[in-house]
Amino acid sequence: MTASRIGVLVSGNGSNLDALLSASRRGDLPEIALVLANVAGCRALSRAEEARVPARFLDPRAAPSREAYDEALAAELGEARIDLVCLAGFMRLVGRPLLERFAGRVLNIHPSLLPAFPGLHAPRQAVAAGVRVSGCTVHFVDAGLDTGAVIAQAAVPVQLDDTEESLAARILEQEHRLFPAAAAWVARGEVALEAGRARWRSPPQRAEGAIACPRTDRP
Ligand code: GRF
Repeated sequence: MTASRIGVLVSGNGSNLDALLSASRRGDLPEIALVLANVAGCRALSRAEEARVPARFLDPRAAPSREAYDEALAAELGEARIDLVCLAGFMRLVGRPLLERFAGRVLNIHPSLLPAFPGLHAPRQAVAAGVRVSGCTVHFVDAGLDTGAVIAQAAVPVQLDDTEESLAARILEQEHRLFPAAAAWVARGEVALEAGRARWRSPPQRAEGAIACPRTDRP
């Protein structure tokens, strides 16, 4: 597929949204055409407004059921002619109505090297487990909790004196590189969801690109 209009779902601070907006302004990503939040007044919504991107809060309590909320999200995205959906710190499971309408077109960023440490507080889980390496993952979204097909990952070393906060901050820096890059690959049709796996258009070269590691040099 190729995508020309991106929708972003948010709940919180919105630093990943900012990274996507910057990539779009640079011409590395298609237009961010709509931002939807499930949390009223979150910082991500004001970032979208500052960037003059249509943005609105969709109240989960106004929907009679989880399905109805997903249908409302899908309807808004459909009306805005969105063809790629990025979950950027969207703290809510998305369900069938949205996943069916946007099959293979919903991406999420998660702050661990999945399948390790799915769910909440992934950096805290990594520090508690004593792992030496963690990182972040961009994956296609399925109905599970952080279980969809992996598209790209960035590794982040865990220091002996890391706290949840210090590790989360270094992972977040990599999220800001990884998410725009992975979204661009999907938008350009270089990688797509096929039979539950991320399939690359030109396997040998692109498969190497599927694993992103922190660069030691700075761009
Ligand atoms: C990120 O760590 C993301 O991976 C996780 O929630 C955090 C959101 O940060 N799902 P932000 O709202 O993009 O600043």
